[in-house]
Amino acid sequence: MLKQCPTFTSPSPFSLHEDGVIHVLVTGGAGYIGSHAALRLLKDGYRVTIVDNLSRGNLGAVKVLQELFPEPGRLQYIYADLGEPKAVNSIFSQNAFDAVMHFAAVAYVGESTMYPLKYYHNITSNTLVVHSSGTH
Ligand SMILES: NC(=O)c1ccc[n+]([C@@H]2O[C@H](COP(=O)([O-])OP(=O)(O)OC[C@H]3O[C@@H](n4cnc5c(N)ncnc54)[C@H](O)[C@@H]3O)[C@@H](O)[C@H]2O)c1
Repeated sequence: MLKQCPTFTSPSPFSLHEDGVIHVLVTGGAGYIGSHAALRLLKDGYRVTIVDNLSRGNLGAVKVLQELFPEPGRLQYIYADLGEPKAVNSIFSQNAFDAVMHFAAVAYVGESTMYPLKYYHNITSNTLVVHSSGTH
């Protein structure tokens, strides 16, 4: 007789609102500010989802957080680019977030003067994608 794996039948804790648990989406959570914010949130008992495309950050930081907080429903990492509205919409529809801390960005002054459009897209435009998905 076949036994179904429970993960196929039970919904992910990240997809449900749970009394007393605040679920925070941390964009750019593999980066400097985002990973420290995620650590603080996890230490304070929040549920955390990190979304990062690893263009600048360090997956090692996420792995350290996963080792520190291995319990189910504490931390999940999703690889995604915030410039892809379909992916961002799907993340918002599959997860029950209570708050968003948006740190995904590019942040070098010199580079921003050489490639202003890259900065415009990855900061201004992508922030609107996150805002729009989060409010629908
Ligand atoms: N580092 C500082 O001292 C400092 C101080 C004040 C404000 N800030 C601001 O905080 C924010 C984050 O800075 P940081 O120093 O942590 O930068 P960082 O480069 O270390 O982290 C940014 C993270 O965002 C990710 N990312 C970038 N574009 C993405 C995209 N399109 N989709 C998904 N993930 C993406 C990168 O992979 C990286 O992990 C920036 O807006 C910066 O201006 C930083």
